[in-house]
Formats: sequence, C-alpha cells, structure tokens
Amino acid sequence: MSAYQDLLAGLPGEPKTWLVTGVAGFIGCNLLETLLRLDQRVVGLDNFATGHRHNLEQIRAAVTPAQWARFRFIEGDIRSLADCRAACAEVDGKRVDYVLHQAALGSVPRSLEDPITTNGVNIDGFLHMLVAARDTGVRRFVYAASSSTYGDHPALPKIEDRIGKPLSPYAVTKLVNELYADVFARAYDFRTIGLRYFNIFGPHQDPEGAYAAVVPKWVSAMIRGEPVYINGDGETSRDFCYIANTVQANLLAATTDLPEATNQVYNVAVGDRTTLNDLFFAIRDLLAARFPHLRDFQPTYRDFRAGDVRHSQADIGKARDLLGYAPTHRIDEGLREAMDWYVADLAPHP
Ligand SMILES: NC(=O)c1ccc[n+]([C@@H]2O[C@H](COP(=O)([O-])OP(=O)(O)OC[C@H]3O[C@@H](n4cnc5c(N)ncnc54)[C@H](O)[C@@H]3O)[C@@H](O)[C@H]2O)c1
Repeated sequence: MSAYQDLLAGLPGEPKTWLVTGVAGFIGCNLLETLLRLDQRVVGLDNFATGHRHNLEQIRAAVTPAQWARFRFIEGDIRSLADCRAACAEVDGKRVDYVLHQAALGSVPRSLEDPITTNGVNIDGFLHMLVAARDTGVRRFVYAASSSTYGDHPALPKIEDRIGKPLSPYAVTKLVNELYADVFARAYDFRTIGLRYFNIFGPHQDPEGAYAAVVPKWVSAMIRGEPVYINGDGETSRDFCYIANTVQANLLAATTDLPEATNQVYNVAVGDRTTLNDLFFAIRDLLAARFPHLRDFQPTYRDFRAGDVRHSQADIGKARDLLGYAPTHRIDEGLREAMDWYVADLAPHP
C-alpha cells in the first residue's frame, strides 16, 4: 500500500481538525471536499477575493449532511491578524491540528499590475497566519509555495535547492513566504512545509476573468465558441499537475512523522513537460468527442507574455522520497476527469 493509501485508510478513524485558508478557491475547496469525505473537522477562512460561494455550495452538495456539519466557515481576511487568530481558535474544545494555507492572490500578471495588493495579501497575510498558527500551537503549517520561485534559473528539471531570481512581484511574495517559514522553524521551533505547486488544474478552477489559468480559460472558450489565444509560438512548456496529486501532497505533508521531512519545501507536479500546443490539442480532442464542431478548431497565436518563463518541469524526487508522494494522475488522466466537470459546469444547459 502507498503512503497515501495508508493515510486515507487511517484518517476516518482518527478525525483531526484542519484549517484550510482560501477554502472558497480552487485548491482550497478541493482540499475541503477530500477532508470532509474522510470525516475530518474543517475550519475554512476566505474573503471571496477570488474564490466563490458557489464552490462551497458545490462541496456541500457532494458530501453528506453529517460530513458538512463538520465544516465551520469564517468569512475573513488574512490581512487581519484577528481574523487569522479566530480561524486558529479551538472549535468545540478541539484545537486546530493542521493548517493548509492556500489563501493568496495568484497570477503573475495581476502582481505586475498591482504589486502592492499582492504583497499585502501574500506577505503580510502569510505572516499573520504564521503568527496565529504558532501562537495556538498547531502541529504543522503546510503552505502553498510556487514554481515561480525558480525564476530565471535555467536548469531543467527544477530541483528544490537551485533557484534563480524572481521574475515578478508574485514570485517575490512566494519566495518571501519560504524565507519566513524557514525563520519560524529556526526561531520558534515551528513546523512548516512549503509545497511549490507547478501548474495545477482541475474541477472548480475559475475560468473567468483576466487572470484565469490556461486550462479552464481554454476549455470555457472552446465550449462557448470563443477564440483561444496562445501567447508566443506555443512551444512554451509546463509541468501540468492534476488537483488530486496536489491534495495528496498536502495531506502527506501535514501528517508525515519523519523529522527530516519538515521545515522543507517540495515540488508538487508530475515530472512531465507539456507544450501549450500539445495542451491545446489534448483539450480540443477531448471536447470534440462531445462537441463535434470543435474537431478542426484552431488557436490564435499572439505575442509572448511578460514575466513568463519558457519551460518548466519539476523533479519530484524529494517529495517522493521524503513524503511518499506518488502522483495518481498524469496530464491526460487529469484532463479527462476535469473535462467531465467543466462540461457539466460550463456547457449551456438545454
Ligand atoms: N493554481 C495553481 O496552479 C497554483 C500554482 C502555484 C501556486 N498556487 C498557490 O496556491 C494557492 C491557491 O491557489 P488557487 O489556484 O486555489 O487560487 P484561487 O484564487 O482559486 O484561491 C485563492 C483563495 O484565497 C482567497 N483569498 C485571497 N485573498 C484573501 C485574503 N486576503 N483573505 C482570505 N482569503 C483570501 C480567495 O478568495 C480564494 O478563495 C495560492 O496561494 C496560489 O498562489 C497555485
């Protein structure tokens, strides 16, 4: 049995209390769903800056009423230390065991346009969460780091201890998160794990808005008959990682007993590299099975986007060796699952 299967088998018999920040967002609500299905107690914090109430409603519909009753939602802002303390407070006499800190403002272009707000949420907010979690004695603080931290380092695949200079304000904030987590480990003996997510995709990822991620943006454009734009020549590549792998990494990171596994950062990806052209055709072919008019649909190429790195691919050996991380979905399997969800969610209903 894999480390993750062991964990999934053991958790329902030993419910813990988890705080998921950014719980109304893409990754947060997927974490919520998995944890509730495992009969865990979950506290969620979100201010709906980019997350949605309908994500929470969809999770409510996906779990049993008894599981949903174990969820407590706090509408609050991580830029408020009081809100962070409220989220870390005891629930029914039980203190928070694990924090899965996802709340942040994502997107490189957003950070280039508004570095001050990104800094406030991603750095001040992060520090507030660290302080609140430290003061209530949580066992482990797992946080969303980012592959953007590799910046201009040219090496492929990306190995955790070889990073370059950040290429955007967003990347600076994610690097600073790692520095603060490291200092909290040294100064306060506080246990953290950073997960450097590569391009995560899956159900509940927002297709709307100027800062939408590529997979949901393209899927929704194709379903709605709108143009799909590829920035550059389409040979830019990424290590696309399905959400189920990301959830696995979070749960393993929160619960590992291995002392040398904590106070570390890990790549969370698959270890593959897919070009934007290949991604486009994979999505188009999956959708064409349901929408035959898309069979010959072509993308529109336009200029490269500022701040984007050309290629990205992770070495996932560290997470495999220290956390027992074993991705269950490669990109094709993930796209197939995600497509079912997107078609149900986005396609015009008769
Ligand atoms: N999706 C990816 O590919 C990817 C890659 C690298 C890192 N990450 C990181 O993963 C985390 C989750 O990303 P996501 O893709 O789910 O994005 P998302 O935008 O769907 O979720 C972020 C959530 O945080 C909430 N939030 C934002 N500001 C807040 C604040 N001030 N107080 C409380 N809540 C706030 C939002 O409302 C939203 O629900 C982020 O930290 C992001 O930087 C994501």
